[in-house]
Amino acid sequence: MASRTPIIAGNWKMNNTIKETKELLTALIPLVKDAKCEVAVCAPYTSIAAAAGLIAGTKIKLGAENVHWADKGAFTGEISADMLKELGVEYVIVGHSERRQYFGETDATVNKRAKAALSRGLKPIICVGELLGERESGATDDVVIRQTKGAFDGIAADELKNIVIAYEPVWAIGTGKTATADDADATIAVIRGVVGELYGKDAADAMRIQYGGSMNAKNVAELMAKPNIDGGLIGGASLKAEDFAKLIAGVN
Ligand code: PGA
Repeated sequence: MASRTPIIAGNWKMNNTIKETKELLTALIPLVKDAKCEVAVCAPYTSIAAAAGLIAGTKIKLGAENVHWADKGAFTGEISADMLKELGVEYVIVGHSERRQYFGETDATVNKRAKAALSRGLKPIICVGELLGERESGATDDVVIRQTKGAFDGIAADELKNIVIAYEPVWAIGTGKTATADDADATIAVIRGVVGELYGKDAADAMRIQYGGSMNAKNVAELMAKPNIDGGLIGGASLKAEDFAKLIAGVN
């Protein structure tokens, strides 16, 4: 099996002013200097430039939380891949469940955003995951298969190395409820199977797939012990330097 470098990415969501960004990153940088995994922070647009300056020359990579699919133009309130690239952004979250739930994101728009990101040399973190009702009705696999196929539509095999998938069961996000490590691993195996179906076994083995949803310093080791889980997309536990650093220290 291909060896995959785990990636822990903080998803700050609509948190952290520039001032708070400075406080958080100043505290975080020394705490994660010996991290064994890749570390990224995905910041709100207004804090990206400040974050870029603070993390330059450190282990921490820069991410954004969304990107529009068009190069430029009349899309009031949107941000293009070139704009992010200019700020030094490397990763960008695409299709987070909060975008799907509150902002009309669909499998088709997730696909368009992922392709735009890739075309400009950004690395999309593509989010998939089922709602509580879908889990309870046994539809989890169908949902993540549909979302994964939709997200990868038309993406060439040579782009795969620049993609991370995040499996985030929606009912586990910000709720304190984590999927059991076995359930998360099993669903991620299904997602990996889709990558295999689309691009072959080697591609599936090489694809990094994170877990997200109430991941924290206490449950990280159990989740990371599973063969299919290659890191995490972290909301709440990425907002305090000590919490995030402890979580990262738990990745082996
Ligand atoms: P959470 O958020 O860690 O607060 O559950 C994860 C996410 O939404 O990416």
